[in-house]
Amino acid sequence: MIKVLITSAGTASAISVIKALKRQKEIDVFLFATDMNKLAPGLFFADEYFISPPITSSEYVNTIIEFCCKNQITVLIPIFSKEIRVIAESKDLFDKHNIRTLIPSYKSILNCDDKNLMYRKANNLQIKYPKIFLKSELEEYDFKNSPALFVKPVSGSSSKGSKKIDNIYDLSFVLTSTEDLIIQEFIDAEEVTVDVFCPTVGIPKVISPRIRIETKNGQSIKAMTLKKEPFIDLVYSICNEFSILGVSNIQFFKTDHDLIFIEINPRFAAGGLMLTIESGANIPLLVLKKILGMNISENEYQSKEDIIMLRYWEEIFIHA
Ligand SMILES: Nc1ncnc2c1ncn2[C@@H]1O[C@H](COP(=O)(O)OP(=O)(O)O)[C@@H](O)[C@H]1O
Ligand SMILES: [Mg+2]
Repeated sequence: MIKVLITSAGTASAISVIKALKRQKEIDVFLFATDMNKLAPGLFFADEYFISPPITSSEYVNTIIEFCCKNQITVLIPIFSKEIRVIAESKDLFDKHNIRTLIPSYKSILNCDDKNLMYRKANNLQIKYPKIFLKSELEEYDFKNSPALFVKPVSGSSSKGSKKIDNIYDLSFVLTSTEDLIIQEFIDAEEVTVDVFCPTVGIPKVISPRIRIETKNGQSIKAMTLKKEPFIDLVYSICNEFSILGVSNIQFFKTDHDLIFIEINPRFAAGGLMLTIESGANIPLLVLKKILGMNISENEYQSKEDIIMLRYWEEIFIHA
């Protein structure tokens, strides 16, 4: 039996990973989950759980390692961006204790997490991405004759702090802000997320695009898989440039003639991972198989187009 630890059990991604490893029957797994919040719902989907210190604590890494060693856990699947970064930074320590992960190098994670570094790399590839403005170029910006703008934090995630700017009042607020922000042209187009799995560095084997049919509070609640062919070359060159290993998701805007790169996240997607799994590519299982050195057939990397997912809320009850 393989013992696996999944972190940040309060997130939608962690719950999807737990569900994905529970629905497969090829590997006998015992799932541990952890979160700093004792009411994180994913804790109750796992076989066993423990409460971790916050990721900002200097005890975080040691506590995870100790827990793994005590329970003979040999596979660690980190979920939350900040954890992935810290674990990548301490990879040698995890290796030393025979706790295996499949994540990119620390440097490659930084290149994705910092949007300035990320767009610099996108620029090397000469792929399309939204035009980026320097603050100095925007002092006389003419909203009547130019496109609206979009602002987001350089190190943001989950759309936090990002918004459309279409008037000089909001723009002047952005221009005087001391926050590290990135200001782009506003793109009004459909968004596509591609779930990706690279069993070896820079080589994507799963390429599974999906669109949001309907969103609520920024979360996709209805989604559908698309044909992968238009995305293959772009995804190959991005994974290669960013030296991606394991799981990632890449976001694009899709216009009538173009795919415009928005960002790459070197982790499981929150909203649509179950859709990719249902479409045929059980990425969490592939991570486990790769870590365990098992054979993976070409068929296991394929996902079908035109599969629709409808999401809804569900409850867990705890008799405290
Ligand atoms: N240039 C842009 N024009 C219009 N919308 C954008 C632009 N950049 C990002 N967005 C929207 O904001 C969301 C969050 O931006 P993103 O770059 O993915 O940052 P993060 O997900 O890390 O917060 C995107 O999913 C997209 O909906
Ligand atoms: Mg994003």
